[in-house]
Amino acid sequence: MKKIFAALLALVMAASLCACGSNQVNLKILDTEYAVEDYAIAIAKENDQLLSDVDAALNELIADGTLQKIVDKYISGVDHGLTFGNDGANGTLTMGTNAEFPPYEYYDGENIVGIDAEVAAAIADKLGKTLVIEDMAFDSIIVAIQTGKIDMGMAGMTVTDERKESVNFTTTYATGVQVVIVREGSKITSVDDLFADGANYNIGVQTGTTGDLYSTWDLEDEGKATIQRYNKGADAVQALVSGKVDCVIIDNEPAKAFVAANNK
Ligand code: ARG
Repeated sequence: MKKIFAALLALVMAASLCACGSNQVNLKILDTEYAVEDYAIAIAKENDQLLSDVDAALNELIADGTLQKIVDKYISGVDHGLTFGNDGANGTLTMGTNAEFPPYEYYDGENIVGIDAEVAAAIADKLGKTLVIEDMAFDSIIVAIQTGKIDMGMAGMTVTDERKESVNFTTTYATGVQVVIVREGSKITSVDDLFADGANYNIGVQTGTTGDLYSTWDLEDEGKATIQRYNKGADAVQALVSGKVDCVIIDNEPAKAFVAANNK
């Protein structure tokens, strides 16, 4: 009798393990792009000196290949072994970011790392300043620049005409693409499906990002979608996994990172 019970228990456990496996929700990024945009560093309107200093440093890093080497480290996994730092004789350079955006800025233990964090360190190095990174909500960055709480905003931030009314931008240092993440097998198979007659999907975005702004203007304001806004891109992706939203609109590199983390 005991044996039968043990065998039954083993069966039940095996069955529940199988259920676990089949509950895995895989995600994918649609091939069609929602929007292509440029990333740059934002600096206060009245801070012309800092804008030209940071711009000059950034342009040198682009021209001598340092920027590409930093991108290689975080996107292709090729580490060129670069390190940055100086005696900080010229004070501090405070960068505001939202460290929820791999591979541009994210936590590695207690430290904020990523392309933006490292490019900012390289800029600070050139300016003889010590880099300080302040993590905040993405939609607080522009106000923090305007009020002087931070010297610059660097957060995979897209240059837009609306933001240019509030801050100045440096040279662009990266291209971002707004992509659509869906569950494997979703009815949404292209960006056009979001705009189709009668479409009314729930779309997840990170609050205040261009994914939020564009989908609000293009779709929600037209009565074609409901936008669900989350503090973190990862939370929007979690909502997609649990079926609370039908898709997520977000930048391509974080999209790849979130999808890879989910599908593994
Ligand atoms: N590129 C988008 C924008 O500028 C999203 C940036 C989000 N960045 C972040 N660190 N969370 O609106």
